[in-house]
Order: sequence, then C-alpha cells, then structure tokens
Amino acid sequence: MRFVSLNGKFVPYDQATLHISDLGLRRGYGAFEFFRILQGVPVFLEDHLSRFENTAGMLELEIPFTRSQLEALIYELIRLNELKRAGIQLVLTGGYSPDAFTPSTPNLVMAPLEIKSHPAVYYQQGAKIILHQNLREMPLAKSTDYLVAVRLGKRVRAEGATEVVYHNGTTVSEGGRSSLSIIKNGVLITDLEGVLPGITRMHLLQVAKLILPIEFRSIMLPELFSADEVILTGATREVMPITQIEDRPVADGKVGPFTQTLMKAFREHLEAYLASRTVAG
Ligand SMILES: Cc1ncc(COP(=O)(O)O)c(C=O)c1O
Repeated sequence: MRFVSLNGKFVPYDQATLHISDLGLRRGYGAFEFFRILQGVPVFLEDHLSRFENTAGMLELEIPFTRSQLEALIYELIRLNELKRAGIQLVLTGGYSPDAFTPSTPNLVMAPLEIKSHPAVYYQQGAKIILHQNLREMPLAKSTDYLVAVRLGKRVRAEGATEVVYHNGTTVSEGGRSSLSIIKNGVLITDLEGVLPGITRMHLLQVAKLILPIEFRSIMLPELFSADEVILTGATREVMPITQIEDRPVADGKVGPFTQTLMKAFREHLEAYLASRTVAG
C-alpha cells in the first residue's frame, strides 16, 4: 500500500505518522471502521460511513469532513493505490492532547491494508468458536477498543478456532469481530440490542427475510449449544457456518441447510451490489 490519507492529505505509507500526544495512543480513545474493496468498489460504503458517524457521535468526536468529502477521499485512496481487493481502516482519534486526557481536534487516518480470505474449509465444513465472558464497553460503538479480542487472538489460534464469542454468563452477544445469529426450528434468531450493528448481518437479514422467519431477541447460552445452526458474519468473513463451540459440535457437526442457502443468497446479494456500482468497461 503506497498512500494513506492523514487528515485529508495523501501521504506515502512510510511517512504517515502522528505525534505521541495523540489520545488514540495515550488513552485508546478513538472511533474505528473497516470495510472491504472488491473489484475496486468499497462494499456497503454508505452503511459503514453511517456507523462511523454514529460512533464518532457517541464518542463526542467531530469528523472533520462531510459525508461527501469522506467518500471523495476514499475513492481517491482507492485510485492512488489502485485497490481492487483490499480493506480500508478508518480511525478517528481524540487528537493531540496537551494533558494526555482531554480530547482536542481529532485526527483522521484512512489506511488501506491487504486482506486474507478465511480458509475455504471453514465454509465447506464449518468453523469452531470459543467463548469468553465479556461485555464490550459502549457495545453499539465501533471503537478502537479491541483489548479483549486482541489478547484472546492467541488462544483462538491455539485452539484452532476462528473467533471468540462473548457472553455475560446468561446470554451470548457477539464475536470479537463478528455478529452472531442462530437458527432453531427454521427460525433465524439474532439480537440487535447491546451489540455492534454489524453491516454484514444487516445485509444478510435483508436476504434472509425472504427465506425464513427472523426473531430479534437475546440468545440464552443453552440456546447457543442446542441451536440447529450457528452463523457468524463480518466484513471479511461474510457468512460463516459455525459447527463447533468449544469442544461441542453444533447439532450433527455439519454445515446446515439454511446456512448453505443463506451463504449463497448473501453472495448473490453482494455480487448484485458490486455489479450495480461497477462502471461498465
Ligand atoms: C464487535 C463486532 N461485532 C460485529 C462486527 C461485524 O461487523 P461488520 O459486519 O460490519 O464487519 C465487528 C467487526 O469488526 C465487530 O468488531
């Protein structure tokens, strides 16, 4: 990646630096967003920018650009780096803080990064999750706080899992970097409250409602273990079947029929989105 955008200026990657007084570094205070570029198109950009603006509002940080300016910066970043398939991270920090506590003028970083696909076997045979008791601070915000997810990354890998899913001892909420849905008796169940509004899940639900009934409510821990099918969604992960929770299989341990249909329907929805935004020729 050759260029990043730093407060609206395009800077070579190696020279893109912020001062150590930045509140993002000193107190971990910042809004975060991540989306993919596929076929040169920023996927579901409008939804990601809405969520970014909401998070900034929750953190009482002002984004120094209008929506159309943000879009223009992103398209220019795609052009300068000739991005076809990549990710872009947005970070809005609390800015340079004289007392290392009080926010000032925010700094906005837009940084492309390479993305790796998840192993194909996860989609064919299903993936494993581990569980951890945790409640994210400001769960509706996508902040830079990934302390628990980052710390547990080592355990996730060591256990051959794809993700850690959080619970509070009674209900399950979401993955460290993904949204959770389950299917029981032909009904998709997912909770919109107390979790990050996942953009991938939102798009999955748009296609899912044509396929099966949907219930929005909290999911009890025992319900997770007795689910017929379990699905994680996320920008890079897309729609991933979960067939093992810790050391227990989900149902018969195979990818379920609804999940297979939903994976296909989501793919078609994504292809249609890309086609509608790809300039012919
Ligand atoms: C806590 C949390 N939940 C859900 C998601 C999935 O969101 P999206 O589908 O918008 O990538 C993420 C993404 O990083 C996340 O951090």
